[in-house]
Amino acid sequence: MKRIGIVTSGADAPGMNAAIRAVVRTAIPLGFEVLGIKRGYAGLLNNEMQRLNLRLVGSVIHLGGTILGTERCKEFMTDEGVRKAAENLEVNAIDALIVIGGDGSFRGALDLSGVCDIPIIGIPATIDNDVAGTDTTIGFDTAVNTALSAIDKIRDTAMSHGRVFVVEVMGKKRGFLALEVGLTAGAEKIIVPEEKRDLGMVCDRLKESHNKGKRYSIIVIAEGVGKTQEVVDVIRTTCGYEVRLTSLGYIQRGGSPTARSRLLASLFGSEAVKMVLNDERNKMVGLKKDRIESRSLKYVCESEKPLDLNLLRLAEELAI
Ligand code: F6P
Repeated sequence: MKRIGIVTSGADAPGMNAAIRAVVRTAIPLGFEVLGIKRGYAGLLNNEMQRLNLRLVGSVIHLGGTILGTERCKEFMTDEGVRKAAENLEVNAIDALIVIGGDGSFRGALDLSGVCDIPIIGIPATIDNDVAGTDTTIGFDTAVNTALSAIDKIRDTAMSHGRVFVVEVMGKKRGFLALEVGLTAGAEKIIVPEEKRDLGMVCDRLKESHNKGKRYSIIVIAEGVGKTQEVVDVIRTTCGYEVRLTSLGYIQRGGSPTARSRLLASLFGSEAVKMVLNDERNKMVGLKKDRIESRSLKYVCESEKPLDLNLLRLAEELAI
């Protein structure tokens, strides 16, 4: 009998539970035992683990967050922490580790793979979608839809009052969420860290729209751009419009996963176990052009996923 350890790490993302369920329900019928590691890598360092069974992952497919808990673990970022984690994998007789998380979690997994000799498989789950080696991540679609439905509500009041709304969405470093939310919300302008911020152009665009008879505008900005308040102030003083700022914040990280996030979680979870079965090592499962594909953790950690700037242009073309 082989024992698989499973851990959710870093920021939570809707669909992590569906992925845990898929891992457990693929692994156990194949004869594996599954050990759930609590609180991310912190639980690995403290031997906080629980044996999972088919029933324990019942009624979780629709739940946001992670039933295992998660943490950003500082101790694991040190050489000593990584060594201790490797020791604990051995102490707990874990023969393979499945890590569900984002780029930071995979950097940790890669470090761990350097000091232990068991297969480590990554499952990408982050609302930021900023993981190379996969077109999309678990939780991204849910966050897009959460932000979109919030903006649809904001639109009601923006339209009634004839105001400009600047809506800040999550995305610490990257603009994937802002781009997809902005495009699907019909935003006038989308501001992302991947493009130089030109507030003069933003103001010109707003004035142009105003002159064409538009009574209100929505601007979507990624948190990673920084200085959102400055954007608001410049629009207010340059254009003289009434401007309001809304930061959507953590509501984007919670909630029941969408069908798409659950589907992805189910596919990735099942595939990750099959990779363990085939003794594939130190890889991340991903989706490329609607096909399941895996890439090495090294590739994932050393590559940068490009943002499709054509979509930004499309959003602008359509918001005339
Ligand atoms: O899930 C990723 C993310 O939502 C970022 O976009 C955001 O900046 C960050 O997590 C904040 O997370 P925390 O408060 O957990 O550090």
